[in-house]
Amino acid sequence: MKNILFIASEGVPFIKTGGLADVVGSLPKCVDKRYFDVRVIMPKYTCMKQEMKDLMKYKTHFYMDFHWNNEYVGILEAEYDGVKYYFIDNEMMFGGFKPYSGNVYDDIVKFSFFSKAALSAIPLLDFEPDLIHCHDWQTGLVPVYLKERFSDNPMFSRMKSVMTIHNLKFQGKWDVKDVRDITGIPASFFTPDKLEAYKDANLLKGGLVYADAITTVSDTYAEEIKTPFYGEGLDGLLRARSGSLRGIVNGIDYEDYDPSRDKYIEYKYDAKNFRKEKIKNKRALQKQLGLDQDDKVMMIGIVSRLTDQKGFDLIAYIMDELCQDAVQIVVLGTGEERYENMFRHFDWKYGNKVSANIYYSEELSHRIYAACDAFLMPSLFEPCGLSQLMALRYGTVPIVRETGGLKDTVQPYNEFDSTGTGFSFMNYNAHEMLASIRYAERIYYDKRREWNKMIDRAMAADFSWHVSAEKYQEMYDWLIGDKA
Ligand code: ADP
Ligand code: GLC
Repeated sequence: MKNILFIASEGVPFIKTGGLADVVGSLPKCVDKRYFDVRVIMPKYTCMKQEMKDLMKYKTHFYMDFHWNNEYVGILEAEYDGVKYYFIDNEMMFGGFKPYSGNVYDDIVKFSFFSKAALSAIPLLDFEPDLIHCHDWQTGLVPVYLKERFSDNPMFSRMKSVMTIHNLKFQGKWDVKDVRDITGIPASFFTPDKLEAYKDANLLKGGLVYADAITTVSDTYAEEIKTPFYGEGLDGLLRARSGSLRGIVNGIDYEDYDPSRDKYIEYKYDAKNFRKEKIKNKRALQKQLGLDQDDKVMMIGIVSRLTDQKGFDLIAYIMDELCQDAVQIVVLGTGEERYENMFRHFDWKYGNKVSANIYYSEELSHRIYAACDAFLMPSLFEPCGLSQLMALRYGTVPIVRETGGLKDTVQPYNEFDSTGTGFSFMNYNAHEMLASIRYAERIYYDKRREWNKMIDRAMAADFSWHVSAEKYQEMYDWLIGDKA
């Protein structure tokens, strides 16, 4: 049995701000339990739902030197869906209304503490990992600490580490002196070949330098981040480490996202009966959101963080024009104020065609995936993207920009040989996107049989974890080698 410990800042069902939580919550379940014992450690945030906290049991605690203080580190544990979870407890560190405060300094303190505490907790877990799997900048210090602070202990010195990049945009960058102070890592580590980048300390970079292997969440993104445009300043390092870098595309949880059993949707359907049943969800959503009751109109959905990454400036640019077409647009998301207000404005201006829902709701997200005809995701960059996979699963045709995981998971429609699962465009250009949406409208309105065949293909595409979990297993095997 090989033991793997995920160290991550979020995971479904305990806490979620984005796709990282979906991955951390679903991949461990899908790894072959005959050969691997995968467990997860994450912070216990005070903002977690009470019902989730109620699942956790106190295991033990200790005190740890950190940032000139001696800090309390509680360890709690829980089992969920066959996976064992550990939680690091310290209410001062993990208080607040959200997991990430948005204040870079505070977040760096919080996750440096978490990274060190998670490693320090291991000897108390009755679980000795062969490999530590780290996710994003929040855990970038883990491979560094493993090589520095913990390397004298044979239990740690043989542990392998993997760093998975879910989003290269966020790196945890701050002044070197402060980060040395916070982490206690010696000055010799803060050089441009290690933790320093462009004069600042960079936590993700530390992880990328010291991890035994690096992965990211699609093949295309693995290539893109070796170029200056997508590399966020680390493309040189990623080119240098390209022998240890690979893309493994994400899957989604096929039990949580299943239109034939989804507890959030009123009318269940599957690949056989969607022609009759899916539309009932559209009617229900039109009613719920106060849109025109119209079976025929093409309904386009958006469920997303409202940030630049997701291409909202393209949408803002053509929104008025698009609203002249026979379409309905349903948005669910939170994020940058200018995009929240942009959608509120269009909801006010075209109330019977546009519905802006500026909040977070698991339930409404499922209803949108089920009800809409098409799903729009014109990202500027997209490491993988899970929303388009959810849309495919619900027979909702994605319209995407050809970047990162969107390119790898949505096959563009080809009307000549009747293939493809969605629509896509290449350049980051608002009118190119609009042309793609209008092409989709034409097929939807004029060639309904073709449209439905596209739904057949979309629903037949397999983005469960099945294939990708095997790729992670191969990588774990390769890194750990044979165990005595
Ligand atoms: P990212 O991680 O970059 O935000 P992904 O497509 O990988 O993008 O994952 C986004 C996840 O968050 C999906 O599960 C999506 O349904 C969900 N999501 C985003 N915004 C909301 C919201 N306002 N309400 C509910 N779910 C949301
Ligand atoms: C990040 C990326 C998204 C990816 C998710 C899970 O949030 O923005 O593309 O799907 O991580 O890997």
